[in-house]
Amino acid sequence: MKIKLSAFILFGCAFCLHAFSQPNNAEKVYTIDAAKIKAHVQPTMYGIFFEDINMAGDGGVYAELVKNRSFEFAAPLMGWDEVKDKGSDGSILILNRTAESPDNPRFIRVNSKSEAGYGLINEGFHGMGIKKDNRYNFSVLAKSVTTPTVSLQIELVNSRGEVIGSATVEPSSKQWKKYTTSFLATETEPKAKLRILVKGAGTVDLDMISLFPQDTWKQRPGGLREDLVQKLADLKPGFLRFPGGCIVEGRELETRYQWKRTIGDIASRKMIVNRWNTEFAHRPSPDYYQSFGLGFLEYFELAEDIGASPLPIINCGMACQFNTCELVPLDELEPYVQDALDLVEFANGDINTKWGKKRAALGHPKPFNLKIMGIGNEQWGPQYFERYLIFEKAIRAKYPYMKLVASDGPFPGGDIFNYSDKILRSRKTDFIDEHYYNSPDWFMKNVTRYDHYDRKGPKIFAGEYAAQSVTTGSPKNKNDWRCAMAEAAFMTGLERNADVVNMASYAPLFAHVEGWQWTPDLIWFDNLRSFGTPSYYVQQLYSLNKGTDVVPVTLNNEAVTGQDGCYASAALDNVKHELIIKIVNTNQHPQKADFVWQGVKAGENGSLTVLQSDDPEQVNSLDEPKAIQPATIEFTVSGNHVALVLKKYSFNVIRVKI
Ligand code: AHR
Repeated sequence: MKIKLSAFILFGCAFCLHAFSQPNNAEKVYTIDAAKIKAHVQPTMYGIFFEDINMAGDGGVYAELVKNRSFEFAAPLMGWDEVKDKGSDGSILILNRTAESPDNPRFIRVNSKSEAGYGLINEGFHGMGIKKDNRYNFSVLAKSVTTPTVSLQIELVNSRGEVIGSATVEPSSKQWKKYTTSFLATETEPKAKLRILVKGAGTVDLDMISLFPQDTWKQRPGGLREDLVQKLADLKPGFLRFPGGCIVEGRELETRYQWKRTIGDIASRKMIVNRWNTEFAHRPSPDYYQSFGLGFLEYFELAEDIGASPLPIINCGMACQFNTCELVPLDELEPYVQDALDLVEFANGDINTKWGKKRAALGHPKPFNLKIMGIGNEQWGPQYFERYLIFEKAIRAKYPYMKLVASDGPFPGGDIFNYSDKILRSRKTDFIDEHYYNSPDWFMKNVTRYDHYDRKGPKIFAGEYAAQSVTTGSPKNKNDWRCAMAEAAFMTGLERNADVVNMASYAPLFAHVEGWQWTPDLIWFDNLRSFGTPSYYVQQLYSLNKGTDVVPVTLNNEAVTGQDGCYASAALDNVKHELIIKIVNTNQHPQKADFVWQGVKAGENGSLTVLQSDDPEQVNSLDEPKAIQPATIEFTVSGNHVALVLKKYSFNVIRVKI
């Protein structure tokens, strides 16, 4: 939202953006020394953390609408039901062809007895979100068992059972073959189902039953949900961390993330249970699996599409230390290390290398320019470091340019943290990955956390953080304005210390309103809609206004770290030639502020973007997606200062042409 205020008088007096809300305290003068560059802001500074938790991948950004498309869930018919049109009869049978197809052994045999229509219906992921006049692409692997052959009537049905789109497929081959068709939807429906009726007397084998909308991101067949990727693109993220999170580790080693199993033909990407399926007894998700339709090639492409540096995290030979703690013996670690080396070759290798050739064969001859990767997610203790060092040695030897990220464990302090921190600093690790899920109060109190970090030591990757309104992991946590405001306050500290903190990402990223396990999350969605939380807009404002060089902003010669509830940082944008000031007023009263700069000469134009709510408990929602959203006004600058009233509970970004 942008409002143009041409007649603003800015100098000599405070302009009141909120005429009815009078500040109750004296004007404070903030000084910006724009000639004193303190740090360079890395282009990677604000990025995104992606993990398939909360149905972020399957049932979320991966636009497949059919749940359990290959009958590989532990209960092979989960998501499916038998369906009989009037007068029809038949039977279904799950069969297994492990020897022939070890990664996708199961399929369904449908035997129909008449023309009337017997078959299956799929419930989707909490239904299927269907849009009127949108085209839907259906595909199936099928094999006709009997002669004469049968036909398949494909129908989308709405929640009243009415058909809202249909097509026919004639699977005639006696060998497995892919059949495709597409059709338009006649109605918008958030909870549609897909019905497949076998017409005629006969038997057909079916597998990989799939339905995708055509309007995926960049219209890629079998691609990603457009509205959700757009939300990521709108963040202009510096990096994309993937695929997690704990999902990297697996509850046990068997279910760890193995990138090589996630590329190539989707029918051969071996489906496994999602570790969040069983993690929380209070949020059981028995139908949560990983199809890996969103696999490593797609992650790299996504990063490329949205202009983010790829940042894969790989398993280090340890399963989740909160779960099974399974460990790969040191003398059996070699395949894990090889996976890491091969990943670099897959991303960057020449097309004549083994893995570069694979990348090219998958349609991406151009390298992905991978520069950084993480070894292990949230790991700790001596057994982690023994393993980490083996990876480090091998990767450094072959790819000396690669930067590596090591874990500091799951907490931002305490024994585990201190132990890890000491080792990693003594080893001169490139990046230390710190995680903090804490109260809003913690975030505000920790705004100076990085002020005293060793400027010559490892760089910090604040790889996962989010303010928790109740307590970490509580299902009652809300994405409210209080949390977002605390994050905004804390982030002034990240920015002030951009020489030490080079990357930061909020976590987790996505959550389906019906399918989540963990809250809070940055972006919520249902089958058709999505919204950014107040935290989303905080992240976006930081990312879009990161500037290039940090300069000091002080109040009475001190950094602004909570005086009267205010937190501030400032930066120059050497590309757009602007001075950027960020200030968060967490105070329940408006505050008069005069920002005076020295060291640069201002031009005439300025803008103020405000994210604010009078109610710290305010949230955004599917029905009110923009209850909190940034609003921008433009103004004319005169002299070397801007005076304004900071609204209560507000995050303000001031940009002035210099
Ligand atoms: O973001 C949710 C989880 O929190 C991540 O998977 C894990 O790394 C952390 O404990």
